[in-house]
Amino acid sequence: MGCEGNVQAAGARPEADFVPPAIARQVVSPSAYADWEAIHRSFAELRHNIPLGLVDTPGFDPFWLVTKHADVMEISRQPLIFSNNDHRCALLSQSAERQYLENRETAPFFRVLITMDPPEHSIYRRLTFKNFTPKGIRGLEEDIRALAIESIDEMAAQGNMCDFAERVALRYPLRVILSLMGLPREDEDMMLRLTQELFNPQDPEISKSHSSVDESEASSYDLGALAEFKQFFSDLIKARRANPTDDIASVIANATVDGKLLSEWDVTSQYIAILTAGHDTTSSSTAGGVGALAESPEQFTMVKNDRSLVPALVEECVRWTSPLLSFMRTAERDYSLRGQTIRKGDWMMLSYPSANRDEEVFEDPFTFKANRAPNPQIGFGYGPHICLGQHLGRLEMRIFFEEFFRRVRSIELAGPVERSRSINVSAIKRMPVRFTMA
Ligand code: HEM
Repeated sequence: MGCEGNVQAAGARPEADFVPPAIARQVVSPSAYADWEAIHRSFAELRHNIPLGLVDTPGFDPFWLVTKHADVMEISRQPLIFSNNDHRCALLSQSAERQYLENRETAPFFRVLITMDPPEHSIYRRLTFKNFTPKGIRGLEEDIRALAIESIDEMAAQGNMCDFAERVALRYPLRVILSLMGLPREDEDMMLRLTQELFNPQDPEISKSHSSVDESEASSYDLGALAEFKQFFSDLIKARRANPTDDIASVIANATVDGKLLSEWDVTSQYIAILTAGHDTTSSSTAGGVGALAESPEQFTMVKNDRSLVPALVEECVRWTSPLLSFMRTAERDYSLRGQTIRKGDWMMLSYPSANRDEEVFEDPFTFKANRAPNPQIGFGYGPHICLGQHLGRLEMRIFFEEFFRRVRSIELAGPVERSRSINVSAIKRMPVRFTMA
């Protein structure tokens, strides 16, 4: 765990391929992800020339950058060899890690599924798994449709122009998650602010604690937002333990492992994971998909005329946007992959946006095809950690697009699309659109 056992600088690994320094800086820079085309050009270059290469760049422990679809799958399916390794499951700078290690007594890291390894991971995953299966979420369809209709109503109420990201995409999945958690609508604005702050500490427009001094100094998570979440959820846990209801907040608050209730921090961590993972990601996919349709009227018309294509459109939205940029793994033993030797302790970045544009898997990967089939996108990850909310995310998007195509007659971009600056999520902050309603 921690920094021990990581790969050393170039000299110590003469046999390894290295990612060129300019691209290495790019993949750890939050602002680089705001230029989506540029980062994809770099990933394409790597897939062709250095599909598995070491990133060695100031401010970060070195790591292998995994750009190929097959390799992301090969690593993801073997949790005993490639560990999620606690806080090192996400890319974080050396200073952020130092800060965390110094404060871990007072500010422990999340105890969520994505930070856990077997056997603990499967024990915790089982606690809520049933609630997120296709059967478990079937009963939510009516409520979700009502929320989708409400979002489209709000869009229509704007006249013929709106910021789709802010007005529609951000709110709708958040409302679904709030209702799943059993939280009232009054909490919407606070939850929206906290989820954005928590995962965008490098974005000065969003984060209060952003330091403009050096991007690599910024932490992966915003500690101020975390403290607010903790306070809020402490009250919720007490309420749901005193009076359990049928919401997810109650399921988790009253779940037991080895006959004991989970600790308050464990429950808080699960709440934060569901709330944040289930919100930003689905909104980015929906906004990115609508943006792609707004840029290609023939794709829009194709789905509008044949709604049976909506499920395929949803998969393409996830492939196209890959809302989670990466997760990290740590090798538990030496492993040979693509002619490279990964050593025990090496850190590895699984790049979902790159895997989802892999030319060996996707025909014409840089074109948005609403009817793409087959579409083995891995935007939800793969293996035992595959997104717990994948069926819910799909259901939300399917219902949204069904209502969208029922009401929207045409749509086009009305200004530049702005993306957030983050090394964790690829979120769309602004997307002005002009539209006509049926
Ligand atoms: C388009 C929407 C979404 C995308 C693209 C997405 C993507 C991902 C990815 C890439 C992972 C990591 C998988 C891996 O390591 O192999 C993940 C894990 C997870 N997601 Fe999602 N997600 C989405 C929606 C949701 C929703 C709606 C929820 C919950 C309500 C959710 C909850 C989770 C949880 C709890 C995990 C951790 C699972 C584990 O480690 O076992 N996600 N998601």
